[in-house]
Amino acid sequence: MGICGTYSHDSANGHLLRMALDACETLGAETVVWDLEEKPLPLVGAPGSWDDENVKEFQEMATNVDAYILSSPEYHGTMSGVIKNQLDWVYAKHVGDKVWAVMSTLGGQANSNTLNHMRISARWLHGHVIPEQIAVGKVKEAFNDDGAFVDNDLQERMDKLAESLVNTTKKLLG
Ligand SMILES: Cc1cc2nc3c(=O)[nH]c(=O)nc-3n(C[C@H](O)[C@H](O)[C@H](O)COP(=O)(O)O)c2cc1C
Repeated sequence: MGICGTYSHDSANGHLLRMALDACETLGAETVVWDLEEKPLPLVGAPGSWDDENVKEFQEMATNVDAYILSSPEYHGTMSGVIKNQLDWVYAKHVGDKVWAVMSTLGGQANSNTLNHMRISARWLHGHVIPEQIAVGKVKEAFNDDGAFVDNDLQERMDKLAESLVNTTKKLLG
């Protein structure tokens, strides 16, 4: 299941997530993504939010999958509120004991802040986060006109991330 840190999937993170999900599909995985534009989730605790039908559907989708890929822009040194709110709508009973991968994009230099912060949240949800991770720095220049990475090292990192996510999930599920 892909979880995107922006509303629109027509964003760098939507694109990065699609690339990672496609790489997993090439390895035999089935993938799904939650589309916030089609089915927005209320802020946790907003009036009426506990009975929201989209929230229930989101929790069901999260329960029915074996692994997650998070992709978030870095905002002020951490993950976006959009991705944190999605994480706040699930609990270990939905997503625990499953496999996670984390990716981020930055306007500036690549760093590990957002990756580490998402890793902590996933750990708190009793997730097993794989060591492979991707931070795409200077994101406006990171993709060519065909949508491929300009830096081939990033493509190699993505291939390794997808392979690790699929293989670790298979091992964990026996
Ligand atoms: C509110 C806000 C805060 C941001 N903070 C940072 C930051 O701390 N470091 C950084 O490198 N880029 C920062 N940026 C740039 C975003 O990381 C960049 O626009 C994003 O990764 C692009 O991905 P997207 O197309 O999926 O939104 C910020 C952008 C916004 C809107």
